[in-house]
Amino acid sequence: MPTIKITYSDSSYKPNAEVLAGKLNFPLVDSAEISQQSSQNGQADYYLEYASDGLCLKSAVRNEHGPIRCDFNSGASTHRRKYGGGNGQAIAKAVGVSGKFAPKVLDLTAGMGGDGFVLATLGCEMLLLERNPVVHSLLNDGLQRAAIAGLEDTELAAIAARISLLDTDAGTYLKALPTGPCADIIYLDPMFPERKKSAKVKKEMQAFHGIVGADEDASELLELALARARYRVVVKRSSSAGYLADTAPSYSLEGKSTRFDVFALRKLPG
Ligand SMILES: C[S@@+](CC[C@H](N)C(=O)[O-])C[C@H]1O[C@@H](n2cnc3c(N)ncnc32)[C@H](O)[C@@H]1O
Repeated sequence: MPTIKITYSDSSYKPNAEVLAGKLNFPLVDSAEISQQSSQNGQADYYLEYASDGLCLKSAVRNEHGPIRCDFNSGASTHRRKYGGGNGQAIAKAVGVSGKFAPKVLDLTAGMGGDGFVLATLGCEMLLLERNPVVHSLLNDGLQRAAIAGLEDTELAAIAARISLLDTDAGTYLKALPTGPCADIIYLDPMFPERKKSAKVKKEMQAFHGIVGADEDASELLELALARARYRVVVKRSSSAGYLADTAPSYSLEGKSTRFDVFALRKLPG
């Protein structure tokens, strides 16, 4: 795990930074100290920084990659929300969203919340689980900012209200539940195996891989999910990847570079 320190762009964000540093048990540094540190050996690999546009992850190496943050109110996110293809998107078909049915979805591997947000945009009630404390903090901050932006955008407010987030391990969560289905659809998007030395893997993705590591328990999660979903389990994979746990799904839907493997358990309502 790389070394990560918490910082803030100006003193008005110091209280937020202190709370996060205490929660994650990471050192807190004043941003003014960072440039001094870089000439010494006590430098971190990354900084989680509070600034006017929210919490972001920055590399300690200048210009290695841009800041990584969750922004559900950005131009790109708003464009996808408005013109992204609605229920015609492969992810929507995989999950079974239709004009007649908006499922309750448990996303076991929330990550930066991209897929969860798309499904919430289509009307799904989303429960997101994320176990990595750094990723959870970034996503939690993005969702909080979406809720604030929703004060001036009723559509965004309704989407944000459909999303809940827990900082927990999905396997532990599922095993602690009483028996029986816990969601209409269970969605699973474990980390793709890292394509080492490939120039195609963006620096941001490399940073994400370095912090999250390999999701070694993904096969076990699939087994747990199959026992707990009411209608379907959906596994997102890279187009070139084999089936998770070598288990063939009922069918697959191909996206551009991704594939959705659908394990159909019961007929959807509607
Ligand atoms: C590939 S990312 C998911 C990306 C996400 N679908 C999106 O659209 O942003 C996988 C994430 O799942 C998380 N994860 C993996 N296994 C998990 C588990 N057992 N419990 C909770 N989170 C898990 C990892 O920490 C990582 O952040």
